Amino acid sequence: MTVVVLGGAGYIGSHAVDQLVQKGYDVAVIDNLITGHRNAVNPKARFYQGDIRDRAFLDEVFGQEQDIEGIIHFAAFSVVPESMANPLKYFDNNTGGMITLLKAMKDHDIKRIVFSSTAATYGEPKQVPIKETDPQVPTNAYGESKLAMEKIMHWSDVAYGIKFVALRYFNVAGAKADGSIGEDHSPETHLVPIILQVAAGERDGLKIFGTDYPTKDGTNVRDYVHVVDLADAHILALEYLKAGHDSDAFNLGSSNGFSNREILAAAREVTGQPIPAEDAPRRAGDPSTLIAASDKARSILHWEPKYDDVKEIIKTAWNWKQSHPHGYGDRGQ
Ligand code: UFG
Repeated sequence: MTVVVLGGAGYIGSHAVDQLVQKGYDVAVIDNLITGHRNAVNPKARFYQGDIRDRAFLDEVFGQEQDIEGIIHFAAFSVVPESMANPLKYFDNNTGGMITLLKAMKDHDIKRIVFSSTAATYGEPKQVPIKETDPQVPTNAYGESKLAMEKIMHWSDVAYGIKFVALRYFNVAGAKADGSIGEDHSPETHLVPIILQVAAGERDGLKIFGTDYPTKDGTNVRDYVHVVDLADAHILALEYLKAGHDSDAFNLGSSNGFSNREILAAAREVTGQPIPAEDAPRRAGDPSTLIAASDKARSILHWEPKYDDVKEIIKTAWNWKQSHPHGYGDRGQ
């Protein structure tokens, strides 16, 4: 039995592939390498380079990997500000890609999918912590593209019996503890790796986007979860579907909120570097506070995140950064 991981060369996907391989699963990876890195893929996984919007390519892989027990789907664009400037890119790749994928799954009789959804599907919350049953009203096109994907999976379940788990991630950070794989985006837009680029002397300073939000210190508040804990949840979700349970959605977060200034202070402590920062205008599409209620994943999937200290999370990211100053080194840096 094989697990096919779409987007398995990306930041979160590569950590999930690594965990799957370590737990003895047979793994095949599909990635178009637009944002992923070939060297991030555990060598024990088979690798196919191609795009999930390419139906002939999917048919070829699904034909070759005959005994597929489930799909784990990470292959998507995920940069909030880019989605505001270029929403059609997001609807085409993310939402359009999901339609092609589900058609191929239906025709190849693949009945399980674990899906990377996002806290961005909730938009500006009416209450925190956010529960899975709360309204989903995205404030950015990225979140909207993923919400549409959740809905498309729902109707594909109703009509074709394709069971899904949507995992709504809050803010992921960190790297595998041994520093062998980690986060490498180009350009980088996420808070923790940008702060660490400043700590490493690659950037002059951090711009803090928005200091007049209705939060404890005026900056956005986010809920950080370690990438290996997130990867574990996908395996639990796959097993949950294999046990015959119904489709469902789960938040993955720590249920603790940290402001952007608090993350900066934690990173200064971890790295011992001054990390200069300046206040800057708000960034389009940012909700002020995103904190997960994640007891559902804990009680139903038996998810037990191992990292509960944001400094420990940043420490693993710093370890990766120091051992790989140019990331995977395959983007001409
Ligand atoms: N930020 C800065 N300066 C920077 C970069 C980011 O102040 O240079 C701020 C942002 O404005 C935001 C916070 O840091 O307030 C976190 O921003 P990120 O870009 O790291 O993460 P987002 O919260 O925008 O989005 C991330 C993922 C999404 C996911 C979302 C869910 O990128 O895929 O978390 O919370 F949907």
